[in-house]
Amino acid sequence: MKLNVAVLPGDGAGPEVTAEAVRVLDAVASRFGHAVNVVTGSIGGHAIDTFGTPLPDETSAVCHEADAVLFGAVGGPKWDDPHAHVHPEQGILDLRKRMGLFANLRPVRAYPALVNSSPLKPHLLEGVDMLIVRELTGGLYFSRPKRRWTTSRGRRGVDTLRYTEREIERVLRVAFELARRRRKQLTSADKANVLESSRLWREIATELAADYPDVEVDHIYVDNLAMQLIRDPSRFDVVVSENTFGDIISDEAAVLSGSLGMLQSASLSGLPGAGKPRRPSALYEPIHGSAPDIAGQGIANPIGAILSMALMLRYSFGLEEEAVAVERSVEAVLAEGYRTPDIAGDGGGVVGTARMGGVIAGRV
Ligand code: IPM
Ligand code: MG
Repeated sequence: MKLNVAVLPGDGAGPEVTAEAVRVLDAVASRFGHAVNVVTGSIGGHAIDTFGTPLPDETSAVCHEADAVLFGAVGGPKWDDPHAHVHPEQGILDLRKRMGLFANLRPVRAYPALVNSSPLKPHLLEGVDMLIVRELTGGLYFSRPKRRWTTSRGRRGVDTLRYTEREIERVLRVAFELARRRRKQLTSADKANVLESSRLWREIATELAADYPDVEVDHIYVDNLAMQLIRDPSRFDVVVSENTFGDIISDEAAVLSGSLGMLQSASLSGLPGAGKPRRPSALYEPIHGSAPDIAGQGIANPIGAILSMALMLRYSFGLEEEAVAVERSVEAVLAEGYRTPDIAGDGGGVVGTARMGGVIAGRV
């Protein structure tokens, strides 16, 4: 198979970790007989410095022509001035919107080899295997009005949380479908005791449940979810929520897997194979950001990026065996004791980004 992939390394640790994801992708291609064609594009702070905009048209075009996008990270102290007119983060937000990537899948597992890297008690981590489905192109992130201004009585700022029925329904359907392929439990997180958009969300989730009688649905307030995620994380299978809630709970859930550096994600414009002839647009990225504190030192954990690439093999190319091969290699390497500093809590052998990528590629 020919794999046309756009790679957007971005800022900070982004280029370091995406390079390892590409290295492992090349290893997969040569073992399974595929051809990889990688085209890179500039995004974020790098693109602001080079093109004056966080998402140049060239980059959008590269993404449009590829079958899938591998993204690193954007942002860093250099571009952090709150009064700046352009922010690196706008690059990834605009790209998600332009590509219509409304469903963000963030799997969270506790790796047996890493239980001691998590600050939580090992017994809490047993059996943790959940999938967070975050709505990605609506809600508080994108709704208008969104602005800051000054009045005679001081400064003001507004963000808006607006959802249409269609936006809620399509992401909930993705979550229901994915629950069907897993343990058939769906938890819908909202703040329906306070927010109107959440009441609508809950109403639609309740209506849709009739189409998925095999899936057990429960509704939970997002603040309570934040607590239950730490108290009893193994009870969750698929968790679905609004954009901002999903952003927050996925960072929290990362603690369960030992480190933010371990977490992968897929952002999709629909589920592949759901009766549509065309391949959905898709972008794959580690959950961690540009990690300015460790960027450029060659010590960032590339596993989130490598596992994101595995999700690409699975969702964009239907290459399940190849995806599993990557996931197995990661598990094998962890079991052998290889650790980047972020997961070295149990005193395994500490290696850098490139060595970690290299050993994983070698086990594929
Ligand atoms: C994430 C990140 C982004 C977000 C930032 C970098 C804009 O935190 O992917 O979770 O808030 O969506
Ligand atoms: Mg986030």
